[in-house]
Amino acid sequence: MRTEGQGGELMTGDEIKVLISKDELEKRIKDLAAEISRDYAKKDLLMVGVLKGSFVFLADLMRYVDSNVSVDFMGTVSYGASTKSSGEVRITKDLEESVAGRHVLLVEDIVDTGLTLRYLLDTLRNRQPASLKVCALLDKPARRRVRVSLDYYGFIIPNAFVVGYGLDYAEKYRGLPYVGVLENPEPEK
Ligand code: PRP
Repeated sequence: MRTEGQGGELMTGDEIKVLISKDELEKRIKDLAAEISRDYAKKDLLMVGVLKGSFVFLADLMRYVDSNVSVDFMGTVSYGASTKSSGEVRITKDLEESVAGRHVLLVEDIVDTGLTLRYLLDTLRNRQPASLKVCALLDKPARRRVRVSLDYYGFIIPNAFVVGYGLDYAEKYRGLPYVGVLENPEPEK
């Protein structure tokens, strides 16, 4: 059984230490939503979630944003561990709606090397949105390889392997209600 909100040893045997609690997440996300609501007052906003990790954050964020919000999703893959370093990103699922002339907010769970975000920003910018901004829940600047600026971010985190609240380790732990640090993850193959 999962230890609710406290982290600790899970049924899988992995040790997870709480980094950002459920309450801290909720409070910060409400603040972000208030800021976004002010900035997009009287505008139609298209939130674009980057699959899979962002879906939990996006779902909570949009419920607190007080403006007319539409949602769409993009999927990306980088070619395995080695390709993250080569910087190659590929779209696995594209948007269903056109972004031309729309106010687009790209929603990410985490910005790590910045390669995914850079690629998505370049791709979306070419489609001529009215505006394009980024909201990321977690920013891990220690791993950054390319410069990207975040218009909204939730938390700056240390260089640790984080899971929960949408983020996975081998597809596990996306459903944890907090963000935790996975102790001693096996190295990426
Ligand atoms: C994560 C996250 C970002 C990307 C950030 O996705 O959701 O999209 O990595 O990393 P970067 O800054 O180094 O490019 P991941 O590839 O783990 O896929 P997932 O969201 O489906 O788990």
